[in-house]
Amino acid sequence: MPSDDTADVQLESRLREQEYFRPPPEFVGQANATDRDIYDEVGEFPEGFDRYAELLDWDERWDQTFDGSNPPFFEWFVGGKLNAAHNCVDRHLDERKNQTAILWEGSDGEQVNLTYQDLYRRVNETAAALRAQGVEEDDVVTIHLPMVPALPITMLACARIGAPHSVVFAGFSAQALAERTDSADSDYIVTIDGYYRRGEFLDHVEKTDEALEQTERDPDVLAWLRHDEPQADVSDDYVRMADLLDEHAGARVDPVSRDAEDPLFLMYTSGTTGKPKGCQHRTGGYLAYTAATSKNVLDIEPGDTYWCAADIGWITGHSYIVYGPLALGTTSVMYEDTPDHPHKGRIWEIAEKYDVDIFHTSPTAVRMFMKWGEEYPEAYDFDFRHMTTVGEPIQPEAWLWYYKHIGDEDAVIVDTWWQTETGGHLLTNLPALDDMKPGSAGRACPGIEPALVGDDGETLPEASGQAGNLIIERPWPSMLQTLYGNDERFIDTYWAEFSDTDSDDWRDWNYKAGDGAVQSQDGYWRVLGRLDDVMNVAGHRLGTMELESAVSEVEKVAEAAVAAREDAQKGEVPDVYAVLREGIEESESVREEIIRAVEDEIGKFARPANVIFVDDLPKTRSGKIMRRILENISNEEKLGNTTTLRDPSVPEQIRDELAEK
Ligand code: WT7
Repeated sequence: MPSDDTADVQLESRLREQEYFRPPPEFVGQANATDRDIYDEVGEFPEGFDRYAELLDWDERWDQTFDGSNPPFFEWFVGGKLNAAHNCVDRHLDERKNQTAILWEGSDGEQVNLTYQDLYRRVNETAAALRAQGVEEDDVVTIHLPMVPALPITMLACARIGAPHSVVFAGFSAQALAERTDSADSDYIVTIDGYYRRGEFLDHVEKTDEALEQTERDPDVLAWLRHDEPQADVSDDYVRMADLLDEHAGARVDPVSRDAEDPLFLMYTSGTTGKPKGCQHRTGGYLAYTAATSKNVLDIEPGDTYWCAADIGWITGHSYIVYGPLALGTTSVMYEDTPDHPHKGRIWEIAEKYDVDIFHTSPTAVRMFMKWGEEYPEAYDFDFRHMTTVGEPIQPEAWLWYYKHIGDEDAVIVDTWWQTETGGHLLTNLPALDDMKPGSAGRACPGIEPALVGDDGETLPEASGQAGNLIIERPWPSMLQTLYGNDERFIDTYWAEFSDTDSDDWRDWNYKAGDGAVQSQDGYWRVLGRLDDVMNVAGHRLGTMELESAVSEVEKVAEAAVAAREDAQKGEVPDVYAVLREGIEESESVREEIIRAVEDEIGKFARPANVIFVDDLPKTRSGKIMRRILENISNEEKLGNTTTLRDPSVPEQIRDELAEK
């Protein structure tokens, strides 16, 4: 046995010289996707995607795989009918009704084990309760729930009755909840009295109380309880789910047969303007694609215990905790609290306890585990065969640590690039087919056609190693349908820049991802990060303008700009640069007011890392704020040309102010 130090040196030199890591033979021997022909077969456009749809149960088979006649409003599996809840629950009853579907671990070790039969019963009763409350097909239900079993149950209950859900991540503020409720024309909010964060009970329902004061609508509120008795003040105006469920105990609700193109859900995400965008996902194409990628990329098999340690309130959780894994009939783990509660070994303790086979997390989490040290995972006995990262580029050092200390050098790792808008993975290796390369997402998924475009609109040669704008040249089944209620913004945001928008031939339309990327000679893709005013803070997506509009709510602020700064832990963090109004002195209390404004408008997770008071902001002659300058303010090399600024001395002034601190 080489000593630990020698082993480290060996691994590091492999990383430098060879760059590739082979998937372990035991993995390859059992993998779902082992034949390279899958690329040709699925790539046969569009019928290649039929094999994805065939993973599902359809009430009526589609008569047309793809309709591209009205770009960019593409349709998939046209004429087909199905129900997502039936596919994720009912159809598994024959073969695996006693198998666990959702394995929930509460903050303090409490455990809920929902078999497919239990899930079937709870989804039916909840669907009956929602109906009794007046929810009809196509009504949007806003779900503001944390990581408790009620969350996937409510989502699936909505899907069962054909009511699109709009899950608002529990960490969002009351105002953000109100805004999303209004924007989705939603008349129902589903909430809960509270949940646990680092072992403490958090009052969650008060956010709904506050949201109701701010929304323009008058939604009904349905409240779940975390325990049998309320632990927070639940308004008498709210309908208690427990009461409704009692009334509907044992109820059965036939799954509503939905058109493949009927929306399954909305997911709000940040864009380059202050207003969040409601990405609208369809039923058939979305479910087909997430089921297929769960099978081929995550290598999920029905009997597996699979744990994606993300929050269901984001797209990762929708696609790869709920819909994809349950469509395949696997056991999906959910954990309520944070990874450091009550100790830093919690994640590995759960992995050991449930004998988890497949583990899915973010590079931010890997960096955190790495900082805490390998003694935590080493203290537990778990054995992953497959591991995944998502959300941001992973640094080769972090990859290596994950590979060695979590994967024990015998698990495969896939780095999956995708977006809220794409619904499912687009760039990633199929784990048994290609070698792993730390820091690189790998190949395009079967049937996906990415390309790079220069700022001039010219397509870069394939595998040139040059950086460009990442586009996707061909539609795929889980792409968003539109932005809810705003087709124009949908076209402007994703299509206008790199498409011939006058053309009605779908081949002239290209989806703009908003990321920069390079494709190296081996065909592998490396995604570099956002090119627009969107930042990625610990895997959470935040819009610069969204933050700025929150800051400008503070009356004492005359003008503000927000810039992302690189951060070793979180990837990026937001810094606020604020110019105060005449006569206002900078002070700790103004700083706090600004921070509170962001927490109130968006949520605590968006809290600025720094508030820097400045006399002026760097602007072009036409008055546009140059955030690029702020982002690189401490790095003269990267600062670039500042002569186009209206007042070229501004960066220098800001640097001086920073130096004084
Ligand atoms: C943005 C999308 C997809 C679920 C989680 C985030 C960045 C995502 C990777 C990756 C490099 C990545 C991109 C993308 N991103 N995955 N594997 N490597 N960057 O979804 O909140 O919609 O954010 O996250 O910048 O555009 P999202």
